[in-house]
Amino acid sequence: MKYYSIAIDGPSSSGKSTAAKLIAKELGYTYIDTGAMYRAITLKALNLKIEDLADEKNYSFIPETKLEFHDNKMFMDGVDVSKEIREQDVVKNVSLVSSLRYVREELVALQRKFAEVTNVCMDGRDIGTNVLKNATLKIFLIADVNVRAQRRYLEQKEKGSTMTLEEVLKDLERRDYYDSHRELNPLRKAEDAIEIDNSSMTIEEVKNKIITLFKEFKHE
Ligand code: DC
Repeated sequence: MKYYSIAIDGPSSSGKSTAAKLIAKELGYTYIDTGAMYRAITLKALNLKIEDLADEKNYSFIPETKLEFHDNKMFMDGVDVSKEIREQDVVKNVSLVSSLRYVREELVALQRKFAEVTNVCMDGRDIGTNVLKNATLKIFLIADVNVRAQRRYLEQKEKGSTMTLEEVLKDLERRDYYDSHRELNPLRKAEDAIEIDNSSMTIEEVKNKIITLFKEFKHE
């Protein structure tokens, strides 16, 4: 049986996950947050007190780690880790962990497995270029870096963060650089992806635009 897939890539805080969640809900598809998977593995490495996070030999725990999504929540080994994976320790280390070949190979294989058994809306950095090269629709979602910083700043502030707008902006620029300059599957627009700049669009407009495009592509 053939399943449909929507791949949404883009830089940090470009609105990917908000859009992907709404789209998955409207279509009755499974939302796969691949960033959450890299974050969960980072969290486990920290919990295991692995000293050298840059040595991929230390990640042999991945095959026996259970990663699942239920109601848009990330479960690791049966525990809901959705909150913990957004904390500073994880944020600081996830770019490094997600740049390791072994970590990527294991997680990409799992992401492909998810898409083999159900219709998915998957977001990340390398979904259209690597994970689901044959996705039904590929979107590259971008927004001006100042708009992204402002959005993230307000989001973080609501959660009690004391980071200034300037600090948030610097952190975003650092991650953008790292994610798009790493050797393995860097953040890049797939040739057949449709770019949407949502700097001045509402989330509802983004969702509707992607669903309209998807309906066209699905019938091609
Ligand atoms: O989307 P996010 O901020 O939750 O992603 C967390 C980190 O994981 C980010 O620094 C880039 C990395 N990532 C990746 O390398 N490949 C993906 N498909 C998704 C995320």
